[in-house]
Amino acid sequence: MLINDHFQNYKTYGIPKAQLVIADIPYNIGKNAYGSNPNWYVDGDNANGESALAGKEFFDTDKDFRISEFLHFCSKMLVKEPKETGKAPCMIVFCEFEQQFELITKAKEYGLNNYINLVFRKNFSAQVLKTNMRIVGNCEYGLLFYRDKLPKFNNDGRMIFNCMDWVKDSHTPKVHPTQKPVPLLRRLIEIFTDPGDVVIDPCAGSGTTLLAAKQCGRKAYGFEIKKNFYKEAQEKVLKNVQAIII
Ligand SMILES: C[S@@+](CC[C@H](N)C(=O)[O-])C[C@H]1O[C@@H](n2cnc3c(N)ncnc32)[C@H](O)[C@@H]1O
Repeated sequence: MLINDHFQNYKTYGIPKAQLVIADIPYNIGKNAYGSNPNWYVDGDNANGESALAGKEFFDTDKDFRISEFLHFCSKMLVKEPKETGKAPCMIVFCEFEQQFELITKAKEYGLNNYINLVFRKNFSAQVLKTNMRIVGNCEYGLLFYRDKLPKFNNDGRMIFNCMDWVKDSHTPKVHPTQKPVPLLRRLIEIFTDPGDVVIDPCAGSGTTLLAAKQCGRKAYGFEIKKNFYKEAQEKVLKNVQAIII
């Protein structure tokens, strides 16, 4: 179920608590948003000069994002810490490299005392500015937070490394500038939840987390404030899953 509202209004909707919160939070990169995106240039080629997107933001909700409100939401909407081991909930935040420090510090204020850093390794770099003068980034970053007990962990007896491959998603319709690949989200969901568990994405964008969760047989809830992203998510990304429109 995708809700066209601020996640801060979650109480209105009576959604169940989550075993896993996955959130790809706005990166606050402001006017250089397309500096890591070929769209900075006309047809993605610097020989053609800058496009209308050069020096622009991805979306105007970027600068209003409040990390404390986000962490408050997560601490309230994760299921309670269970007595047994192997069942605890967790949250995964995709974020910009430097946001990690603020998140780690502030998460403790909300009882999310422990973290594991995650690196998602691409076999390409989306960066376009000064690429022949410096090392270019090919990784996305994330943090896995949990309260005290280690989270549920479906590893099938194998080690899982904190550096994971970024599997390109050529299947899901592209409707959002920072859309995450559904195969990667499915992998994360399968590791940290069981079928029937609840997954929540408070910053759902194109609805990829909800799609991945539904494909894995999990219950999925998400919030997205921007009407256009919400509409495209419903019409293009979630059209084949049973999404209730609010
Ligand atoms: C980085 S994008 C998420 C992209 C998403 N992971 C995907 O694969 O499409 C963050 C999204 O959060 C939304 N957003 C920002 N603040 C929000 C809030 N308070 N409540 C709900 N959505 C919010 C933005 O409009 C934006 O679409």
